[in-house]
Amino acid sequence: MCGIVGIVGNQPVSERLVNALRRLEYRGYDSAGVATIEGGALRRRRAEGKLVNLETKLKEEPLPGAIGIAHTRWATHGAPTERNAHPHFTDGVAVVHNGIIENFAEIKDELIATGAEFQTETDTEVVAQLVAKYRRDGMGRWQAMHAMLKRVRGAYALAVLFEDDPSTIMAARNGPPLAIGHGNGEMFLGSDAIALAPFTNEITYLIDGDWAVIGTTGVHIFDIDGNIATRPRQVSMAAAYLVDKGNHRHFMEKEIYEQPEVVAHALGQYVNFIDNRAAPSSNIDFAKMPSLAISACGTAYLAGLIGKYWFERYARLPVEIDVASEFRYREIPLSPQSAALFISQSGETADTLASLRYCKEHGLKIGAVVNTRESTIARESDAVFPILAGPEIGVASTKAFTCQLAVLAALAIGAGRARGTVNEEEEQVLVRSLAEMPRIMGQVLNSIQPKIELLSRELSKCRDVLYLGRGTSFPLAMEGALKLKEISYIHAEGYAAGELKHGPIALIDENMPVIVIAPHDRFFDKTVSNMQEVAARGGRIILITDGRGAAVSKLDTMHTIVLPDVDEIIAPMIFSLPVQLLAYHTAVLLGADVDQPRNLAKSVTVE
Ligand code: AGP
Repeated sequence: MCGIVGIVGNQPVSERLVNALRRLEYRGYDSAGVATIEGGALRRRRAEGKLVNLETKLKEEPLPGAIGIAHTRWATHGAPTERNAHPHFTDGVAVVHNGIIENFAEIKDELIATGAEFQTETDTEVVAQLVAKYRRDGMGRWQAMHAMLKRVRGAYALAVLFEDDPSTIMAARNGPPLAIGHGNGEMFLGSDAIALAPFTNEITYLIDGDWAVIGTTGVHIFDIDGNIATRPRQVSMAAAYLVDKGNHRHFMEKEIYEQPEVVAHALGQYVNFIDNRAAPSSNIDFAKMPSLAISACGTAYLAGLIGKYWFERYARLPVEIDVASEFRYREIPLSPQSAALFISQSGETADTLASLRYCKEHGLKIGAVVNTRESTIARESDAVFPILAGPEIGVASTKAFTCQLAVLAALAIGAGRARGTVNEEEEQVLVRSLAEMPRIMGQVLNSIQPKIELLSRELSKCRDVLYLGRGTSFPLAMEGALKLKEISYIHAEGYAAGELKHGPIALIDENMPVIVIAPHDRFFDKTVSNMQEVAARGGRIILITDGRGAAVSKLDTMHTIVLPDVDEIIAPMIFSLPVQLLAYHTAVLLGADVDQPRNLAKSVTVE
């Protein structure tokens, strides 16, 4: 999604603003711009495409000024052109925006009827035009800002500059996050703490409905009714993770290889490796609840789908799960005695947040499995289960996925113990398996790369790929397909292996490889027969299995990737690794923009 930064400074800001935007690149964008005030004049530079284009313009025509706002735009309304890039200017008002102004069309019509001339196709321009109108009607800056906020509807994080006031930036938040950074004689504004990390780690997060007036020495915060609001000033962890790629080519590669370490961090919070017990869940009591709801998007949803298998198998707890964009519209009969888990790396995904609020309205206990403790989803939950993956910069989720799985596995085991469906001995066996996971992940990552790179050469020539799996390997098949399609742009589908005969088998030919995820588990024999059906039709099979599976599979496969024999509960995390690396190396071979795939954003803060 879009990124916002602002500085009310005591020294030139344009270069620091662009550098801060660079730390927001991971959110995905297709144009960028910066505006400053100098000598009583608002000036801006904007450019299509990557930040390097904006930097070129700034080198040719520098922007002086000790106060400014800047923006990376992920187009929602209007093509990703320079004309539609932020900041938007109208009569001495400059605006940058993340989100969607839902009633922009009616406001635009009203303003055009009063003679306003619009320059862009965006929804954002109505904000600048409305504030400018209120100023022309005689309102002061604060009054005009507040009147605009009472008029617009939708999701927004906003930063506003007034040409006639070079000492303050105004900001507002309703949905997409906005953080205020406290400096020494300077103040900062950013979409998240990572953008502000080099300036300060003292952060104040606005909450929905807040608006703020930021000066060089501090900030005044108001709620939507104009009352003074006090928000906590906290020390952000983001600075500790000041992110770089290390010796990796991409953040995604770095994050794949961080998994043994960060999964160990995650497990350490949820299991006791001394007595091999799962830590009891704090604010959510699984013991008596009739059912559990799970909702999330994308990869987080697929983690939830695997979690469903575990909660139902180990805790005998019925799970109702759906993608967040569908969940609340199904009007699922929910019992206030149930709980709902929301899984989100960013903790800001709009659909997931909307589902959370839907369940909250129905009286359910809310749990958040998140990577960003300071996020909106975490803040609005009764219980937060941090996954401790560290900032995940690559748009394609990898380490967050396996950390989400580790946390869900621990919670499911703990729920089984609380519900008496897992005895102490069974619990210790399961937890010991979890404890071995980081070591096995490291072993796998150190051994499979050559085979994966060879295989990705074949895959990079394909147009379509089918992934198959059974049990918890079925959501993993869908995750493998999602990884491949979102970074290499090769079409891929993940299917339940047992569903092959009900349609997809019609696709099988020598041009479409079939990647079968099949640890030697309860389903292996049935999956082998699925593979025979594929082979009988000239299909090319890539089998991802373990030592036991490789020993019994007599199939003539195009490739077989053999992983260590592992217990069923950790198979999804272990088998994620070849799936992630396959997508990564295929995308690299195709020269794709691996960390910032086209059209994608790291956090989708609009519905
Ligand atoms: C995963 O590779 C994608 N980038 C995407 O599906 C992502 O998982 C989804 O948008 C959910 O994001 P969240 O975990 O931050 O809520």
